[in-house]
Amino acid sequence: MSLILITHNLRLAFSTCERIYVLYAGSLLEVGDAAAVERQPYHPYTLGLLLSEPPADIRVPRLVAIRGSVPQAADVVGRCGFADRCDWAKQICRAGKPPLVARDIGRLTACVRQDEIQCELDALRTAALCAAPATPRRDETEGALVRIDALVKTFDGPRGHPICAVKHVSLRIMPGESVGLVGESGSGKTTLGRCLVGLETPTAGDIRIDGIAAADFGAMAKADRARVRRTIQMIFQDPYSTLNPRHSVGQALSEALRASAGAASASTPERIAALLADVGLSAAYATRRPASLSGGERQRVAIARALAVKPAILVCDEPVSALDVSVQAQVLNLFKRLQAEHGLSYLFITHDLAVVRQIAERIYVLYLGEIVEEGPTERVIDDPQHPYTRRLVESIPRSANQHAP
Ligand SMILES: Nc1ncnc2c1ncn2[C@@H]1O[C@H](COP(=O)(O)OP(=O)(O)OP(=O)(O)O)[C@@H](O)[C@H]1O
Ligand code: SF4
Ligand SMILES: [Mg+2]
Repeated sequence: MSLILITHNLRLAFSTCERIYVLYAGSLLEVGDAAAVERQPYHPYTLGLLLSEPPADIRVPRLVAIRGSVPQAADVVGRCGFADRCDWAKQICRAGKPPLVARDIGRLTACVRQDEIQCELDALRTAALCAAPATPRRDETEGALVRIDALVKTFDGPRGHPICAVKHVSLRIMPGESVGLVGESGSGKTTLGRCLVGLETPTAGDIRIDGIAAADFGAMAKADRARVRRTIQMIFQDPYSTLNPRHSVGQALSEALRASAGAASASTPERIAALLADVGLSAAYATRRPASLSGGERQRVAIARALAVKPAILVCDEPVSALDVSVQAQVLNLFKRLQAEHGLSYLFITHDLAVVRQIAERIYVLYLGEIVEEGPTERVIDDPQHPYTRRLVESIPRSANQHAP
């Protein structure tokens, strides 16, 4: 049987398919044998995609993102559709639409300057494969910002059978630390995250956030609840579902600013502009509505809204899994920058070990609601001890950016 796989997941594409077609703004930019394209892309856009993909086997200091976003096909008629984002663009690239032409047996590219720039593309591809030093490990657990002890959460299942989503989970997050929570679908990751921010009430166990008992939001004193809500914020996979479609970006942010300070005067155009700038958006975005934003822009707005209350920790539930690799790289870089600038802590929930390696210093592996392994990210992924973690690591599709040992 033949298979055509349509995806933005490069690891899946390159590990599953024999031939790759790279589509951009409605046009094919590159076609070729998967192994050859992966080793030596001929089109700057393909190179950009490959560089954006987080390597599964090493942690890099910064992911390389393609600047800007994909244009509408109708806006780039009669010129190279990638020209506005391409570092090699020249007049000739805008003089007409570069045709898709054969450069080698089975290799086609729609870049008019491919011959001239191939050496530079090759150099960048090779440089990206140089390993970066591992992050230092932290051993201390005193002074944790978040302490979860023996947390249990059960739901009522069909015919009165309880579903135990989280079973006796204990976890620590230090100030400024980025912690990954990984596990397959249904392992209880989201349930744990929702318990932390008070969207679910645990069945048993203890949660302390910045020293405040926060297992049962309903039973907390008002001042404590307000403090915990300012300390911890959640980012979801689908920002669209959390933004009011009738509110402009500015209204959403001003609402969050008001909630944080409890006073109408807290929200000024300058503060909204500063929040937008923090997530890499211009002040002009304040008048836009969520429906007119791209997925990456919406996620930036959701992050800006969470930052309005100046939180100490963000719980991020699959925040980049709906984004294509280049936008994913931009948003992951944003998370890294915000952590460095604001000293934020993260609980980064994901099923993608390559993503978690880029962002987390330490990870917890959740299996059927229980933590089966915990440790520094490199150690857990490179030398998994628990059979389930081993299976999880083995199931990562081979990376398009896999590094030679
Ligand atoms: N409100 C609910 N009522 C009943 N069962 C629930 C509820 N929420 C979650 N569950 C069950 O709890 C278990 C854990 O779900 P959870 O959403 O936490 O998993 P997850 O690890 O986040 O999965 P995914 O990777 O697919 O997002 C699942 O078996 C799920 O069906
Ligand atoms: S044709 Fe020009 S703008 Fe388009 S990819 Fe090639 S160098 Fe870049
Ligand atoms: Mg989930």
